[in-house]
Amino acid sequence: MTENQLDGITVIPTGKALGAEVRGIDLAKDVSEDLIARIKEVWAEHMVLLLRGQFLEKERLADLAALFGGLMVPGSHGFYLKDGHRPGDSARIADVPGVTYISNLDKEGKPQLKTEGSGSAELLWHSDNSYMETPPMGSLLNAVRVPTNGGGHTRFCNQYLAYETLPDDLKQAIEGMHIKHDRSRNTSGKVRVTFERAATREDVIGPVHPIVRVHPVTKKRALYLGRRFDGPSSHIVELPEAESEALLDRLWTHATQEEFVWEQDDWRPGDLIMWDNQAVMHARTAVDHTQARLLHRVLVQGGPVVAPWSEDAAAE
Ligand SMILES: [Fe+2]
Repeated sequence: MTENQLDGITVIPTGKALGAEVRGIDLAKDVSEDLIARIKEVWAEHMVLLLRGQFLEKERLADLAALFGGLMVPGSHGFYLKDGHRPGDSARIADVPGVTYISNLDKEGKPQLKTEGSGSAELLWHSDNSYMETPPMGSLLNAVRVPTNGGGHTRFCNQYLAYETLPDDLKQAIEGMHIKHDRSRNTSGKVRVTFERAATREDVIGPVHPIVRVHPVTKKRALYLGRRFDGPSSHIVELPEAESEALLDRLWTHATQEEFVWEQDDWRPGDLIMWDNQAVMHARTAVDHTQARLLHRVLVQGGPVVAPWSEDAAAE
């Protein structure tokens, strides 16, 4: 392909509740500010973008995160590291700052059921790094090696729709409420190195975010549930334990229903998927642990999580 042209873009919606494929761009080549602005527009509209044929060096992927709003690097931005645990201690951290390996490979490069990271496991619905004070607005995931008919499908669900279609009683029930997002667990639900499992609700460590957020670009309301583990863990701070659990049961069942979902079920090397953590949750089906799966991920800096009932939202 020749140079990237603004008018060379084609956007093909998935036909599902979210997501679009974008054609006509090679992100390994120079992209103008206008083109970045255009992609951001399309991203805000469709929430999840798939671009095929993006064979990106890790450095380039990190540069793209910077262009889309800022590269987040573990060890800064209030990541969960503490007590002398260095980012380089984890095999998930690539040699390029800010790039994470999403992989089921061991140190010898062999696929495994379990690794230091998420391995080949199914990953439950979540919004990336909601356990940070300022979570990432977006995530970029670039496929290097992926199984053939071997699972590892990435699923996305539309949290604007989840909010909009809530029954009125639930919408009213959650107005003004907040969730404490448990920082001690990783996406597989395991307690992170340097953390201990919380014995009571009061022991849970993590930021408190509004349960509904306003998207900074679209100004629409989206549910913001984060992730959920067996307790004591993330919970609604305004409610006693049992009531919090009952309300979260209803919300999670509603928010993750199939009609809000689009699934990437045919990952190919060179695929880049970018998703908006402010408006979608994602999950992953289990991976055939006999097949290699390696992707590179970067996080794009976000802003504060703004509640629709706050003065910040009203001031916009
Ligand atoms: Fe994730």
